[in-house]
Amino acid sequence: MGGVMTHSIRWKRPRFNALSYLVFALVLVLGLLNPAHAYAELSDKALRNIPSGAPDLDPKTGSLLAPILIPRVPGTPGSAAVQHHFVDFFVRELPGWRVEWHNSTSKTPATGDTDVHFTNLILTRDPLWAQIGDVGRLALVAHYDSLYRPEGFIGATDSAAPCAMLMQVARGVDEALTQKWEAMEASGDAGMGLEEEKGVQIIFLDGEEAWVSWTATDSIYGARALAETWESEVHPPLSTYRTPLDSINLFLLLDLLGTADPHVPSYFSTTHWAYQGIAKIEARMRKLGLLVSNPKNAFLPDSEKTADQFRGAFVQDDHVPFMMRGVDVLHIIPTPFPLVWHTMDDNAEHLDPGTVADWAKIVTAFAAEWLELDEFVSQLNPSTEKQAIRDRTEL
Ligand SMILES: *[C@@H]1O[C@H](CO)[C@@H](O)[C@H](O)[C@H]1NC(C)=O
Ligand SMILES: [Zn+2]
Repeated sequence: MGGVMTHSIRWKRPRFNALSYLVFALVLVLGLLNPAHAYAELSDKALRNIPSGAPDLDPKTGSLLAPILIPRVPGTPGSAAVQHHFVDFFVRELPGWRVEWHNSTSKTPATGDTDVHFTNLILTRDPLWAQIGDVGRLALVAHYDSLYRPEGFIGATDSAAPCAMLMQVARGVDEALTQKWEAMEASGDAGMGLEEEKGVQIIFLDGEEAWVSWTATDSIYGARALAETWESEVHPPLSTYRTPLDSINLFLLLDLLGTADPHVPSYFSTTHWAYQGIAKIEARMRKLGLLVSNPKNAFLPDSEKTADQFRGAFVQDDHVPFMMRGVDVLHIIPTPFPLVWHTMDDNAEHLDPGTVADWAKIVTAFAAEWLELDEFVSQLNPSTEKQAIRDRTEL
């Protein structure tokens, strides 16, 4: 991502119509009973059942992470190999997730008149009974491209490790989601409008890096194209959400993660509630002895930040075109950046395996909390889960 810190941009709220006002009024009334964003916390039992995925996230040998630690400049064979790695994983292990490509082309200042192909990959899991325009989603996002120069750059923190973490997060919530939705169907609650429909989406973005140096037009190629497409694709009439962009309830972007001792501030007052949620998960998991890293300070130390302390500074990254269109963003990126940032040292040797595994656990727990999976994660029997995975890989 860009090293530039800029002042925040004010954005428009989505349009309101009469129905929205009615819904808004209802939400206000419900809000009095149940404060906004106060989702139920996961129980200790559920936290203990959150899978770690640790062996598969090992930088040298992990089946999720190691294959991403190659140069993957947009339009090159390395990029295609990593796309296949993602798709193979979902098709093989998580067939309930819809696979969608979003392709675009652009010229870059490094490649002259040649069109470079940028390929975003989107994996979505929605309740089967829900209309596509009625599902509000947690979008979990990372970029998978690597820098064009220096040649051979790997980008282990930027953003191979975050991509592998998101694969693990998808696997970590999949079984409990299935069970929750089966329970809703069995009880007749499914599709009754008693609850909002909630889905989850992994977005692997291409072309985040600048080819020459970071500007508004030489950066975030994939994110800019996707935000534009999703803003203009309109859902059928009477849908809860007007466009796929509106369907994103929270855009959670991971970047530059995987080195030891990260310091991740809270950047946005509008999503400080979500920051506090994930920070609390980190603190609770540490206290319960569920994390393996041993940092000097919490990864997420900013929970006590007050409204007047938000100065509007943020890091330029893939969220910008979404944020400018009114999407709520939680940006999980350390400041300062890792010392290896944009150097040849951003490689497997400089990842801290414990930190990588802990981030995956923390984000999985946050997703499980957001998706209200407490009782289903609590009931997971880790040994059955392992057996199921073994059975699948033996096929
Ligand atoms: C987008 O690109 C990918 C990878 O090159 C390809 O497999 C896919 O078919 C393309 N999709 C569309 C809709 O063009
Ligand atoms: Zn970068």
